Amino acid sequence: MDAELEREFDRVVGAEQRIEPRDWMPDGYRKTLIRQIAQHAHSEIIGMQPEANWISRAPSLRRKAILLAKVQDEAGHGLYLYAATETLGADREDLTRKLVEGRQKYSSIFNYPTLNFADVGVIGWLVDGAAIVNQVPLCRTSYGPYARAMIRICKEESFHQRQGYELLMTMMRGTEAQRRMVQDAVDRWWWPSLMMFGPPDAESSNTAQSMAWRIKRHTNDELRQKFVDMTVPQADALGVTLPDPELRWNADRGHHDFGEIDWTEFWQVVGGNGPCSRQRIEHRRAAHDDGAWVREAAAAYAHRQTDREAI
Ligand code: ACO
Repeated sequence: MDAELEREFDRVVGAEQRIEPRDWMPDGYRKTLIRQIAQHAHSEIIGMQPEANWISRAPSLRRKAILLAKVQDEAGHGLYLYAATETLGADREDLTRKLVEGRQKYSSIFNYPTLNFADVGVIGWLVDGAAIVNQVPLCRTSYGPYARAMIRICKEESFHQRQGYELLMTMMRGTEAQRRMVQDAVDRWWWPSLMMFGPPDAESSNTAQSMAWRIKRHTNDELRQKFVDMTVPQADALGVTLPDPELRWNADRGHHDFGEIDWTEFWQVVGGNGPCSRQRIEHRRAAHDDGAWVREAAAAYAHRQTDREAI
């Protein structure tokens, strides 16, 4: 029976159709999806912190409204993604516990500090830009609820990317001090943005299997290269220098060559030792504890409604 179910699963995946929650799926497929989608959801929620740091200090009402909307969007992305894990049988409370206990990962990028307002623009341009390159292919991932969640998320991410670029364009048209702020932010965020795509393919433990199951549609290095090629002309148009002396066009490859990423730093950050790792988790834990009364009230209300319906 299992062999027949597995053949049907392979056929659906091979035919570029979607696996849905009630379909049979291999245990490893389910586990891999819960791992990746939970990590993705945690990233969206933790990712609210670095930018929320600037909401109360945004330089104008317009910038504040944009930033508020953007940070709220990230919360929404986290919720769609947690809902997608629930269709696989995961429990959201359990995932949050694993996050705050350091037993599940979230993206390395959110462990870096936001030191000036240009960081908000650079996060939009580079971090959300990298997220789009990584996530647009996930709209074609083989698991239906994840693929569908990604469609809306990518639309919102592309607004985030553009607001960041527009903010930076405005600053670059401003004073010399503002231009220096932008360059400083680019210098600090460039390499961590390249790390978002994950370890090199040769060290990526999950890629081969995730590609076979069509959960991932491209390898980490393929997407990183695409991001570099896309970003270089944008940096030129903006008038900033990307902090890599080895970055240059390679006509033979038809791609940009770029310097070696500091993988020691990457693994340090992934291991929970990034510049803001402790602060991010502490903040998340405190927010979760502070929200306990809301969850209890919502659960009590839901029970009362169920009891009423039963009468
Ligand atoms: N930050 C933290 N951990 C990472 C990162 C990163 N940037 N990249 C890879 N890792 C972890 C992986 O989770 C994996 O650990 P695990 O096996 O213990 O779970 C390990 O490093 C080895 O990496 P891979 O085998 O390459 O892992 P995977 O196949 O899952 O690829 C990737 C990593 C590309 C991030 C993939 O999971 C993915 O596409 N996820 C969806 C997108 C996402 O999560 N984006 C979050 C940031 S974007 C945003 O929120 C705005």
